[in-house]
Formats: sequence, C-alpha cells, structure tokens
Amino acid sequence: MPSVIDSENNTMSDSAIDEKIPTSCPSCPTPLVYSGSLDHLPFFEITPIIGREYPTLKITGILHSNNAEQQIRDLAIIISERGVVFLRDQNDLHISDQKQFCDLLGKYSGRPADHGLHVHPIYRDPGNLSLPDGSTDENIYVINSEAQKKIYKTMGGRPGSTNEPRDLSREWHSDSTFENVPSDFSFLKMEETPPHGGDTLWCSGYEVYDRISPSFRSYLETLTATCAQPVFKSAATAGGYQVMSPRGSPLNVGDEFAPKHPLVRTNRITGWKAIFAGAGLHVTKINDVYTHEDQMIRDYIMRLITRNHDCIARMKWTKNAGAIWNNSCVWHAATPDTHLVGGNRIGVRASSIGEVPYLDPNSKSRREALNISIT
Ligand SMILES: [Fe+2]
Repeated sequence: MPSVIDSENNTMSDSAIDEKIPTSCPSCPTPLVYSGSLDHLPFFEITPIIGREYPTLKITGILHSNNAEQQIRDLAIIISERGVVFLRDQNDLHISDQKQFCDLLGKYSGRPADHGLHVHPIYRDPGNLSLPDGSTDENIYVINSEAQKKIYKTMGGRPGSTNEPRDLSREWHSDSTFENVPSDFSFLKMEETPPHGGDTLWCSGYEVYDRISPSFRSYLETLTATCAQPVFKSAATAGGYQVMSPRGSPLNVGDEFAPKHPLVRTNRITGWKAIFAGAGLHVTKINDVYTHEDQMIRDYIMRLITRNHDCIARMKWTKNAGAIWNNSCVWHAATPDTHLVGGNRIGVRASSIGEVPYLDPNSKSRREALNISIT
C-alpha cells in the first residue's frame, strides 16, 4: 500500500545500476549560473545554511511571464543552492500548473532530455489516495493524514510501531531513491492544514558533507548504498496488477527496485558535493563493508542530521503554501503530530526525475565553493 509508507515520501523500489560510481552526467550543462531574473521578488532566508521563502512569488505568474524559461531556470538554481524554497498563497495554482512547473524546473535546468515527471510505481493500487476533487493522476502523490491514520489502524499501526514513543529519525528520506534515476525536484502544495502541527523539515546534505573530516569524506566517496524497496513488487503481486513502468525515465522500468547509489553525490546544477544515500528511509545497506560497519556509517550520518539543527529548515504550513526542493542535496521529514490537534493535512506532490546520480571527483563542497570556513 503506497500511502502506508509515510507522508511526504513516495516510498520504495530499485534495480541495480553499475557498481562503479559514475563521474559525470554527459548531457548535463553543469554548473548553471543565476541570471538575476528573480531579483525583483522579496525573499528572506530561512537559516544562514538552508532554505529561502518568497512570500509573494506566484508560480502562475512565472508560468505566464514573457521570460518564463529564464525565471524557471533561475528558480531551479536558487532551489539547488538553498536546498528548499517556501512559497505562500498559491491559491490559483491548479494541479496541471503544478505538474508543468515541476517538469519545467527539471527540463530547463539540464535534466536528460528523455526524462520527465515521476510515476508512482503502484499507482494502480486500489489503496492509493485520490486528489481532493476525487480524481487521480499518475504523476501526483497525495498526502492525507486522516486517510493514512485509518490505513495504519487497519494494519495495527505504522510499520514497526510499538507502545513506545516513536523514533522520528526514520522519517528522513530523499524522494524516489528506490529508482535507478531518482527525483531531482519535488513540489509539494498543501491544500489543507491542521490548526498547527504537521511541519516538514529539510536537512542540507551539502552541510552534512561539510561537517565530516576530509579524510573520512574521501572514504565515504568510495561507497555506494543499496536502496531496496521490495514492497512495491509484493503489493502489486498481492493486488494482481503490474507496477507502473516506465516511471519518468527509460531507466526506471521493471519491478526490481534495488538501485545502488553513491553516498556522496555532485549536484548537477551547483556542482557542489552532498551526502546523498548514506541514511534515511530508503537506504537498505552500505555496500562492501561488514554489517556492523554498515550500521555504524548510517548511524553516524543520521547523528549528523539529528544533532545539527542549524542544518535544518522547518516549514510551518499554511493553506495553499508550497515547498520545492532538490532531492539530490537535501533530505526531508514530515512531523506526524497532527493527531494531537485534529484537523486534516492534505498535500499534493509532483516530482521530476533527474539524472543518474554521479560524483565528479573535481567538484567542491558548498563551503569550499563559497569560501565559507567550517568554524
Ligand atoms: Fe518525500
């Protein structure tokens, strides 16, 4: 059941790509340079390290502007530099606009030409949630806290639930890492919000990389992680349907869902390095190390995420607010606390499929590129 997995995530899957870590994306014109086309818009940074909010930016305004391509490319660059951008009052944004904008963010920022919006592998599952108007769309993932609560109840709680307080570190993830080619941009719009609660957090993979010693970074750069999600195949088998295929890329086909991704990845737009597949919901194991070493590395990266809250931007959602992030340089986590206050949290998300993750050995860290000291 897709919606069981967790809020902002799409969930599971994989298929092995080459053991060797790719060192480039031949078709990606990286890095890109911001042209200034958004300078007329007011904004404020969420923290010195991550996040920016544009209080008045209207996505529909950009889509209908004379220089739409330039503005969309510039916003893709800003999102990739800041990790995530928050928007407010996107009241006039329809699902078709949201899909188009997310697709164009990837297209105009150098995504491989034959890639597009992600298709959820088990879109055909009868448990999938419908859009607020009752329709469904293979490119839209629906979040609904009340519907998810009922599903969890029938299943005896969320997977792994106990009578003890939950460990929310399991919420951290990067979208679609179960695919051979994961998502670059995700665009979530919140259609309905509870009185409070249900915040989403983003953590900078750039900054986590920068907090690791140079010698240990060098070692991590040699590693890959398997991101296996067998649930899609088992759900499809149980439901008597085929998983969707292809899913936003000719490389995202079949039902194996067990890719190997680099722990450290170069963002194709900024050219900066980030920790990518070292921790989180979709990471199954670190390859080519002993079991206790696998756990130690994942625990260490999760420790960096959860013990450095200056690497984190937190969104307090308002009705019709939006967030757009670049999955290759941030993780995100929902806050499952809406049951404490009541009210529903309904969101709709589109994701673009980016490039095969690669690590350019000549790329720099964010702090190295911006000449910012670590102390
Ligand atoms: Fe997500």
